[in-house]
Amino acid sequence: MPDVIAYGGDWNPEQWPEETWEQDVALMREAGVNRVSAGIFSWSMLEPVEAVFEFGWFDRVMDLLAANGIQANLATPTASPPPWFADAYPEALPVDADGRRLSHGSRQGFCPSSPIYREKALRIAEQVATRYREHPALAMWHVHNEYGCHNARCFCDTSAAAFRAWLRTHYASLDALNDAWGTAFWSQRYSDWAQILPPRATPSFPNPGQQLDFRRFSSDALVELYTSERDLLRKITPDVPVTTNLMAGAHWDMDCWAFAAELDVVSTDHYLIGARSEPHIDLAFAADYARSLNGGRPWLLMEHSTSAVNWQPRNLAKAPGELRRNSLQHLARGADGIMFFQWRASRAGAEKWHSAMLPHAGPDTKIFREVVALGAELAGLAEVAGSTVKADVAILLDHSSVWAQDHPAQPTSDLDPVEEAKRWHAALWRVGVTCDLAHPEGDLTGYRLVLVPALYLVSDAGAANLEGFVRRGGVALVGPYSGIVDEHDRVRLGGYPGAWRDLLGVSVEEFFPLDGPIRLESGATASVWSEVAHVNGAKVLDTYVTGEPAWTRNEQGDGAAHYLTTRLDDDALAEVMAAVCAEAGAKPAAQAAPGVEVVRRSHADGRSFLFAINHTEEDAVVTTPAGQKVTVPAGDARVIPG
Ligand code: GAL
Repeated sequence: MPDVIAYGGDWNPEQWPEETWEQDVALMREAGVNRVSAGIFSWSMLEPVEAVFEFGWFDRVMDLLAANGIQANLATPTASPPPWFADAYPEALPVDADGRRLSHGSRQGFCPSSPIYREKALRIAEQVATRYREHPALAMWHVHNEYGCHNARCFCDTSAAAFRAWLRTHYASLDALNDAWGTAFWSQRYSDWAQILPPRATPSFPNPGQQLDFRRFSSDALVELYTSERDLLRKITPDVPVTTNLMAGAHWDMDCWAFAAELDVVSTDHYLIGARSEPHIDLAFAADYARSLNGGRPWLLMEHSTSAVNWQPRNLAKAPGELRRNSLQHLARGADGIMFFQWRASRAGAEKWHSAMLPHAGPDTKIFREVVALGAELAGLAEVAGSTVKADVAILLDHSSVWAQDHPAQPTSDLDPVEEAKRWHAALWRVGVTCDLAHPEGDLTGYRLVLVPALYLVSDAGAANLEGFVRRGGVALVGPYSGIVDEHDRVRLGGYPGAWRDLLGVSVEEFFPLDGPIRLESGATASVWSEVAHVNGAKVLDTYVTGEPAWTRNEQGDGAAHYLTTRLDDDALAEVMAAVCAEAGAKPAAQAAPGVEVVRRSHADGRSFLFAINHTEEDAVVTTPAGQKVTVPAGDARVIPG
């Protein structure tokens, strides 16, 4: 990673006449841009006809960057195969669950398991890499773009064969597969591997094990596509870091933990969702997730927007100052690069209504002025680069669990595991307690408090990991409908939650999903979920009005595990969170009024920066742990050294 904050965005000069390029780089310099992502969607210009390559124009792009001291995240343009590809190899186009083969005409028009796609993708990647291997502008490889954004699961015959091969390597025998998928139910027992299909449209609910494994297979297929390009790039340029931009916290089709393990540095994209009431808290979740995926090391924000996007029902423009606050949020949460989609707003094409660093109206605009100001501010914050964020709290998050709970036949459709994770994260955000995300089987050493908001599926190893954390002195808070099934989505028997009955000192005999709010004995309100639990050693801290346990605490080894048998409303959840944070000794980064975000980044040598970002319309005072009081004006932010 650089010793400055990388700043810039996707540059797509092929959309513009060459005369524009000089103006582009001049304005980039004015804005303090030191990094662009280039070539992402250039395949049809670099290889206009199969095996005919035209690099002259792109040489000039790269040379212009180098001449202006701007580095490139150079893309392999494999996210958007040209029309000639679909024309010559229609069998490589993706097929949806209804058996509909999609046409070219947008992007990501390929089946992830297609050998012919892979061959052509590796050929253009090799061409790009060998041509620019020694180019002075080359700083990093940007492989593909947002794997699986539009084609995460393909149901074609090629995918079916690849799925069967994947299953054979994961299950030693058909008997093992039949057992894992519970195929005795509804007469689904397989007698030949050839009978197994992707979960295509079928009269009723698909088999849950089949659906779950297909999602795992589909995610693995994308990771494999990435590693095939990465390995090629590493051979050609062993010293150039390789990444691909994830969509951490927004798209759940790819297992980000698996992807992250293969990246030299995690990079991710984040877009505010206008329909959310506090989208900046969602941003904080995504940023914390990106940092966690990179093992706590600095990561790169590859894309966000300067203002409106173009793909929501109502694309809200950012208010003055919002672009800066959003960028500083990512920086505060460990990003060493703040990049945008895209540099210059497109004149034509599907994203012409997406904001950019340089709007249609040109440089004399609110957006460009904010872009220039942010560039200067980030240059002044170069010392932040390389510092890290330490969290005392972690939320367990696993894609397999999200995928399993996505099966339509659940006790209720109102309990969304991702929204629960975000809600628990938001409860901590509101009090300034920094939080990581962790894989259930990941290393929990160093955390004081581990939260398990909704981890329906957990492996034996994951279950033992949490138990070990508590026994060694940690505090855990487990939410309802967690620890319910094994890694094949089979119920853990003998009383829920089978994975953690002993840890929690609780056994649940039946779920009672709710269709309205309820009030607990303490006065706290809850909704969506309730259950009849019997304590078996745990202390009851709150009950339903019927007297049954709603909140319990069980000491185990040197630690304690709390359990909620219902979905508490935000205020009640905040109280429980305050109690478990106090018990675990998890403290806020600073004292601040509601709506003021506080996070600390620190260097190993002790230099640190407290970021205080005021998302409210009132001036606020932030009190640092050392007692320093700093006023942060409404909508403004301060980076407080020390
Ligand atoms: C991202 C994508 C970009 C652009 C952007 C628009 O998902 O990587 O190419 O489409 O969204 O918000």
